[in-house]
Amino acid sequence: MHSHQVSGIENNKYSVLSNILDLYENRKENLIQILHAVQNAYGCIPLDLQQTIAVRLGIPLSKVSGVISFYSFFSTKPRGQHTIRICMGTACYVRGGKKLLEHLMNTLDVEPGDTTADGKFTLEVARCIGSCGLAPAIMIDDVVYKQMTPVKVNELLSNF
Ligand code: FES
Repeated sequence: MHSHQVSGIENNKYSVLSNILDLYENRKENLIQILHAVQNAYGCIPLDLQQTIAVRLGIPLSKVSGVISFYSFFSTKPRGQHTIRICMGTACYVRGGKKLLEHLMNTLDVEPGDTTADGKFTLEVARCIGSCGLAPAIMIDDVVYKQMTPVKVNELLSNF
């Protein structure tokens, strides 16, 4: 057994990644599984981890980042406790969705794709979440909320 005490946080951070890569035998065929494991361990896959993965698997960084951006379940930034998805599909957009998005960006002080400073919410934009008849709609985690207004959104957020 070697001691982790002297290695410091940075080394510890990469030792988890290193273990994952060892587990999958540094094989590029296992890239997707590796990315899943890394995301589970770190909560996201930032550039420094992508670089290490690329080097260890012997593939270009663009291949790693390409796979990450292709699948929506991979993320390069830390995610919040809750995900707010605001619908920007046509029905929602024309019925106040754009205003709602601006309201949320101001209230939470984030851009779409970003997480609030307290780590509570990640704001995302969705295409259509299947509630066009009761637009504008938003989703928080797995629940859809319909006919939203800025006031209703404020009430909703205060419950989290
Ligand atoms: S466009 Fe928003 S739910 Fe369909």
